[in-house]
Amino acid sequence: MNALNSVLEARVDLWQKARQKAFKAIPDSGKRIKYLDKEFLVYPNTFWPFADSQPLVKNFKVKPGESVLDVGTGSGVIAVFSCYSGASRVVAVDINPAAIKSAKHNAKMHGFDDIMTVKKSNLFQRVGSEQFDVITANLPFRHKDAHDVVACSQWDTNFKTNTRFFEQVDKHLKPGGRIYFSQAVFGPIKEIRALAKAAGFSMRTLATESAGDDDTKTFYAFVLKRK
Ligand SMILES: C[S@@+](CC[C@H](N)C(=O)[O-])C[C@H]1O[C@@H](n2cnc3c(N)ncnc32)[C@H](O)[C@@H]1O
Repeated sequence: MNALNSVLEARVDLWQKARQKAFKAIPDSGKRIKYLDKEFLVYPNTFWPFADSQPLVKNFKVKPGESVLDVGTGSGVIAVFSCYSGASRVVAVDINPAAIKSAKHNAKMHGFDDIMTVKKSNLFQRVGSEQFDVITANLPFRHKDAHDVVACSQWDTNFKTNTRFFEQVDKHLKPGGRIYFSQAVFGPIKEIRALAKAAGFSMRTLATESAGDDDTKTFYAFVLKRK
């Protein structure tokens, strides 16, 4: 968003801060969240599944037998849907220990703990040299200072996480592989396009969805392939 729509930006700030407060207030026993036709459980300090990931989850293609790496897995929602699509191996990583606990719970709850491996990792740090058919990412959308791990689910200080993602993703993608990437109308999509281009990827809009009639809550899924 630029200075012209600072009113919208202030509304997004309020909404995101309220979400962060809600993530912190989840009871220790967890909170059940209905997402599409399924249920997920989140433990305190976990980003809970929301409309932002739905353009990706409803439209991405994982062929039976393919491998998937989900970066910034949160509750594990995209990873779990990858398993439902028939993936034979799914690795789900997140920097936040609370997200790891939630994603492990959800992998088991959906009966995929044999297919889905959940690991604490700063981006690809603990992924090793494995390459995947599909990489999915719903990373923090905004270029904004984050002062704790909960804020890191929505804000990216100096846009470092998004920048490093594009610097490092190529070596974890198989030849012919594809990346599915989420963003929002209030995120720096131009910057994402530039990062993708610099990393050698083409980027196409796969789907767009708005949550209700709120003009700040329009979300995108992009598909990226090597040029
Ligand atoms: C917008 S949330 C998305 C969560 C989930 N994928 C979903 O779609 O609901 C972003 C997630 O990225 C994680 N994250 C932020 N920075 C990260 C990093 N450097 N490495 C790994 N995960 C990161 C956050 O902890 C958070 O769980």
